[in-house]
Amino acid sequence: VERVFSGVQPTGNLHLGNYLGAIVNFVKMQETHNCIYCVVDMHAITQGVDVWGGPAELARNTREVTAAFIASGIDPKKHIVFNQSQVAGHAELAWIFNCVARMGWLNRMTQFKEKAGKDRENASVGLYDYPVLMAADILLYRATLVPVGEDQKQHLELSRDIAQKFNNDFGDSIRGHGFGDGLFFPLPEPLITGPATRVMSLRDGTKKMSKSDASDYSRINLTDDADTIAQKVRKAKTDPEPLPTEEKGLEARPEADNLVGIFAALSGRAKADVLHDFGGGQFSSFKNALVDLCVTKLAPIAGEMKRLVADPGHIDAILNDGADRARAIADETMALSKDIVGFIRRR
Ligand code: AMP
Ligand code: TRP
Repeated sequence: VERVFSGVQPTGNLHLGNYLGAIVNFVKMQETHNCIYCVVDMHAITQGVDVWGGPAELARNTREVTAAFIASGIDPKKHIVFNQSQVAGHAELAWIFNCVARMGWLNRMTQFKEKAGKDRENASVGLYDYPVLMAADILLYRATLVPVGEDQKQHLELSRDIAQKFNNDFGDSIRGHGFGDGLFFPLPEPLITGPATRVMSLRDGTKKMSKSDASDYSRINLTDDADTIAQKVRKAKTDPEPLPTEEKGLEARPEADNLVGIFAALSGRAKADVLHDFGGGQFSSFKNALVDLCVTKLAPIAGEMKRLVADPGHIDAILNDGADRARAIADETMALSKDIVGFIRRR
């Protein structure tokens, strides 16, 4: 069975984009694959403390993402849920990959450019190195399938490039260690599926829904209660036209396209189906249905999260158990990786 790996940063404000772009697919993959879902706390500290919030917030957010996974239907007994910093192999493998990846590759990463902004000299080295650590996350478990939102596509391509270059650079050693095909690291594939792989801001259909948007009305947080969800959907930006009857009518109407995509994703239908029901009608009746749908699907998750985070000891026990099981897999990869590179290790 192929292994699935994905990660979510504990930087606060988990939102509908994280849910529909990533977590919903995490839940689905459990039926058919062995899955590892990681709260990437080491990635979270790559930006300034104003972004990650400091030590107390980091721990709180790590537990909150764990609670969101479980409240959404991830089973931490059948699969693995843990926080990244508990398994040393992530940092160790990232170092080896640092010496495989090229500066030129990292210089092309659009997310670094966005996050670093104008003052690039002042960005952390960790932010620059972020995609290398991400490659280590995935390849430490030799995972092949990575459910993510659209924005992670470029990072996944980099992971493939790193895996491929490692396999080439150490080809003879890899074959010498019993991998006749020279493929020590598999090339991971992104899994970007569903009608909402890029959920947009509720205030501006051209901007991605994001944890860091100053306006809380731009996003639906997974912790929002029913009233807040309803209010945000009612206030979501629209245009004055009625909804189109066909999908191509959504082109150049980013707000309408986004809301129809959200409806489709939450109801498990295609956008064309949703337009079949609501096309030609006014936004107001569509929005009423969307409010009901969002509240029905999301408010119970918020409730369950609240119940779970009230018992941090229980969440920490889940993370510890997950980390133990992750470490068992990671240690095998690290031992082989070290042998392949030529590092002497304790036997
Ligand atoms: P992050 O919060 O940056 O760690 O992202 C966690 C997951 O959510 C990743 O797979 C992202 O691609 C996904 N994601 C984040 N924002 C969005 C969005 N607006 N629409 C769809 N997926 C998203
Ligand atoms: N970079 C991802 C994001 O911001 C989070 C992440 C870290 C990740 N490591 C990963 C996703 C490994 C998939 C696989 O969304």
